[in-house]
Amino acid sequence: MTDTPETDTSDIPPSADVIPLAPRPELVQPPRVLAVANQKGGVGKTTTAINLGTALAAIGERVLIIDLDPQGNASTGLGIDRKSRQHSTSDVLAGEAQLRDAILSTAVPRLHIAPSTMDLSGLELQIGTQRDRAFRLRTALAPLNAGRAPGTDYTYVLVDCPPSLNLLTVNAMAAADAILVPLQCEFFALEGLSQLLQTVEQVRETLNPNLTIHGIVLTMYDSRNNLSNQVVADVREFMGRKVYETVIPRNVRVSEAPSYGKPVLVYDLKCVGSEAYLRLATEIIQREREMRAS
Ligand SMILES: Nc1ncnc2c1ncn2[C@@H]1O[C@H](COP(=O)(O)OP(=O)(O)OP(=O)(O)O)[C@@H](O)[C@H]1O
Ligand SMILES: [Mg+2]
Repeated sequence: MTDTPETDTSDIPPSADVIPLAPRPELVQPPRVLAVANQKGGVGKTTTAINLGTALAAIGERVLIIDLDPQGNASTGLGIDRKSRQHSTSDVLAGEAQLRDAILSTAVPRLHIAPSTMDLSGLELQIGTQRDRAFRLRTALAPLNAGRAPGTDYTYVLVDCPPSLNLLTVNAMAAADAILVPLQCEFFALEGLSQLLQTVEQVRETLNPNLTIHGIVLTMYDSRNNLSNQVVADVREFMGRKVYETVIPRNVRVSEAPSYGKPVLVYDLKCVGSEAYLRLATEIIQREREMRAS
């Protein structure tokens, strides 16, 4: 028998008075991943990724933009020069770098970016025969918030897709919770939308059963142009409640801002383009709450 010394418990208060332990630290959740996608070129994908990202960060979200376009417009538009892109999304998808090593901060507090380089255009050849080729982004994103304290974790990831339904876009769709589709208010706006929706359906059936369409954002709207108004009416009739209330106007400040390496909200906070992207951010957060509640 071991000789255990008797413990004097006389000064330990009875259990009712025990001071409760500090609550466990809140567990961080994975971020919401939204892919900004439309295989049509020049419809406002990158402009939306940059400015929606900035607007979400401005209202307190912690946002990571993933530049998945070899053109690198999101990176350039956020003032990231080519020299500082030491690790890019191309390295990440090729399995040669961790996502956290590619992430750079921007001039906007709470807004970070994983930049791209032209190397991304060779990725399909590099990994096209690998079995996990469509899941490279999903795998890279999985540990993003691991080990981060509440308040430093990312709440939104926005993936800026290239103008194609290629392996890069499929990676974005396989990794995303939902798709955000910019549609330009012009005559051929709806052309190609059914092909995009079909691809989303295929990805849902094969790679990502939880994928949804978050919403459709009408861009470059010109109220003086009858055609713009007609497009808004047609798209709302065709897609119903999936179309956000907020419409992004055509605004010269929006198109000038990237040449200064700034989001329009930093370049000119008071212009109609900035106001619209702030409204869109609020609407997206509201829609997120409704999606979670249902
Ligand atoms: N609301 C706007 N007002 C004025 N110009 C805009 C607006 N939105 C986008 N643009 C301009 O339209 C052009 C295309 O926009 P953007 O690069 O965002 O499209 P994209 O879909 O990302 O193009 P790509 O398919 O080549 O990646 C850019 O020159 C951009 O500055
Ligand atoms: Mg683009």
